[in-house]
Amino acid sequence: MNINTMPRPADTASQTNAALQARKEAAMAKGLGNLAPVYVERASGAELWDVEGNRYIDFGSGIAVVNTGHCHPRVVAAVREQLERFHHTCLMVSPYPVAVELAERLNAIAPITDARTIFVSTGAEAIENAIKIARAHTGRPGVIAFSGGFHGRTNLTMGLTGKVAGYKAGFGPFPGEIYHAPFPIAYHGVSMADSLKALEMLFKVDIEPSRVAAIVIEPIQGEGGFYPVPEGFLAALRKICDVHGIVLVCDEIQTGFARTGRMFAVEHDGVEPDIMTMAKGLAGGFPIAAVTGKAEIMNAAGAGGLGGTYAGSPLGCAAALAVLDVIEEENLAERAVTIGETITAALQKLRQAHPDRVGEIRSKGAMIAVGLVKNGDPDQPDPGLVKAIVAEAPKHGLILLSCGIRGNVIRILVPLTIEEAILEEGLGVLAKVFDKAASAG
Ligand SMILES: Cc1ncc(COP(=O)(O)O)c(C=O)c1O
Repeated sequence: MNINTMPRPADTASQTNAALQARKEAAMAKGLGNLAPVYVERASGAELWDVEGNRYIDFGSGIAVVNTGHCHPRVVAAVREQLERFHHTCLMVSPYPVAVELAERLNAIAPITDARTIFVSTGAEAIENAIKIARAHTGRPGVIAFSGGFHGRTNLTMGLTGKVAGYKAGFGPFPGEIYHAPFPIAYHGVSMADSLKALEMLFKVDIEPSRVAAIVIEPIQGEGGFYPVPEGFLAALRKICDVHGIVLVCDEIQTGFARTGRMFAVEHDGVEPDIMTMAKGLAGGFPIAAVTGKAEIMNAAGAGGLGGTYAGSPLGCAAALAVLDVIEEENLAERAVTIGETITAALQKLRQAHPDRVGEIRSKGAMIAVGLVKNGDPDQPDPGLVKAIVAEAPKHGLILLSCGIRGNVIRILVPLTIEEAILEEGLGVLAKVFDKAASAG
């Protein structure tokens, strides 16, 4: 029986959203927070239904994961078929064809010549392994990351992350030899030249370039607020890395897999990274992540030095192969561009209605954000309004996410398979919720 046609379990007092939230709070630690007390019972395409039968339009895609929509029939069928064959042998013990096929596919689509791939389970692990590989290749310790960047919640990736509140506060000490340069955001007064000058200064005052193994950057900052690198910045980093023998790591964990209108965001800049990290959209929700990079760099780590018990799970590999087929066959990169245009137009309308509250609208394909401010001033962020909108949205059937180093950004990451009518409906709800929250304060 298809899960989406299965009858809901009988409602019981312990199966309401409120009761489940109370049970969750009693059973799980506070650090594992949740956006809203919406307990999902089933999902399909761009829609979710909760345990009480309420319907929601999903403008978050599980944080840029279900780019191919919830329960895409091709993905479900591929996983089901794999599940019936076997679901775990450990890639490091008894490998299997789907993993080889997926590595070949990623090597072919990554904008990297003569690529090799490894699999792990999460985005943070992908970054950890990218750094391990860069250190093994260069024999150097240092890593440079950027302010506002987000790379994960493990100790090393927390150290690389450039935002304290919510991610780092109280969790130190962090590993040594990590340095941060300012991410260029002209809107906030940091030009590309400022950023490159700061990097030069970092080489003078903190670490000499000959001790730097890697520079790690998101081509579009995700958690930081959907800030794309300015044109020419990745090329400038590429040059610096080439001059000093530093490994350029592009974190495509949130931006990858057609989200920005290209398979990978670096393709907009035409720059070839040495290593790319991938997760999230790779397998549409099955926990698998990948590191793809130049063969001479990737092969620096000795056999057994990389991997993990669940690394490259056969279910994840099967799902990822189906996701890649769907992205190609349904032209989801092109669709991301159209979706982005529709959402951007709706946000511009919102700005016309609330010119003093709606700040910068940033979009690359279907990775879209809007900053909320007071008095139309970029330097007066309004995280309170964002919080109110994100909390109110589910009450009207919309799942909405926030982000941003200042907490004042609404991000929109709809499934790329979303039907036009559902997208328009969701944008209508967003406008209504915005009006309500803005008029309240
Ligand atoms: C750019 C980026 N890097 C790394 C990560 C960490 O991935 P994971 O949560 O799978 O460990 C994320 C997650 O949001 C991310 O957006």
